Amino acid sequence: MSANIIDGKALAQNIYENLQAQIYAMKRAPRLDIVLMGNDDASEIYVRNKMKSAEKIGLKTVLHRLNKNDTEADLLALIDKLNVDSGVDGIIVQLPLPEQINTHNIINRISPQKDVDGFHPVNTGMLQNNEEPYFVAATPLGIMRLLQTVCTDLSGKNVVIIGASLIVGRPLATLLLNQECTVTITHIHTQNIKELTQKADIVVAACGVANMVKADWIKEGAVLIDVGINRCDGKICGDIDFAAVQNKAGAITPVPGGVGPMTVAMLLQNTIRAYMQQHG
Ligand code: GUN
Repeated sequence: MSANIIDGKALAQNIYENLQAQIYAMKRAPRLDIVLMGNDDASEIYVRNKMKSAEKIGLKTVLHRLNKNDTEADLLALIDKLNVDSGVDGIIVQLPLPEQINTHNIINRISPQKDVDGFHPVNTGMLQNNEEPYFVAATPLGIMRLLQTVCTDLSGKNVVIIGASLIVGRPLATLLLNQECTVTITHIHTQNIKELTQKADIVVAACGVANMVKADWIKEGAVLIDVGINRCDGKICGDIDFAAVQNKAGAITPVPGGVGPMTVAMLLQNTIRAYMQQHG
């Protein structure tokens, strides 16, 4: 039997229509300020995608570029300025940052009420406490929406998340725990990951290793979420070997067209939420 393909692109499109209608009814367009420091190729593409999608639904974006060699003080000064500007609803600083910058210092400086990435410790702490944060990180939020299309009740499900990042693995584990899942997070020091994934009802691969998850890693009928965006032989591929697992999995997100479009949709949804929380 062939796996159900979870269509993130279509779901994101649906969400965009809804967001566009919300913006249309507002006094002014919500505004997202994006800080891009240096010239990381992948970051350039991600930022361009975010701005293009925002524009399509009538959400305003402003891009602030800093040079690769600018200082942490320069970046902090810009954040301070955006924090107090009432015309700015949401702020994101695209990661990764150049190596002279302490990423925690930057994230911690963004006002939690404008932190539409949901990375500030106030937001991650509230999530940990099972309190409603101002914002939840976009990729985990998008994954939860994708999971809801194939699992109506997550309670009691065994989930293995491959990758313990600030952006995906950690907040996603908390969201799933808050939905009564039993969650295992694996990382590069985990031994025998395969033994863990074989028992999982849901596997989320967010490790950045092309095609790592093979058919013998998964249980028959498992739900697979692929967060990976890797280059393989000139094409984009995920962390899950799609061709190898598609006749064994119950459902799977494709790459591209799965998690990626949902991440952008959730960031824009968070920006509208920022506007409403501050001015609504
Ligand atoms: N780099 C990769 N993913 C993200 C994200 O979701 N937010 C930011 N700010 N940087 C990223």
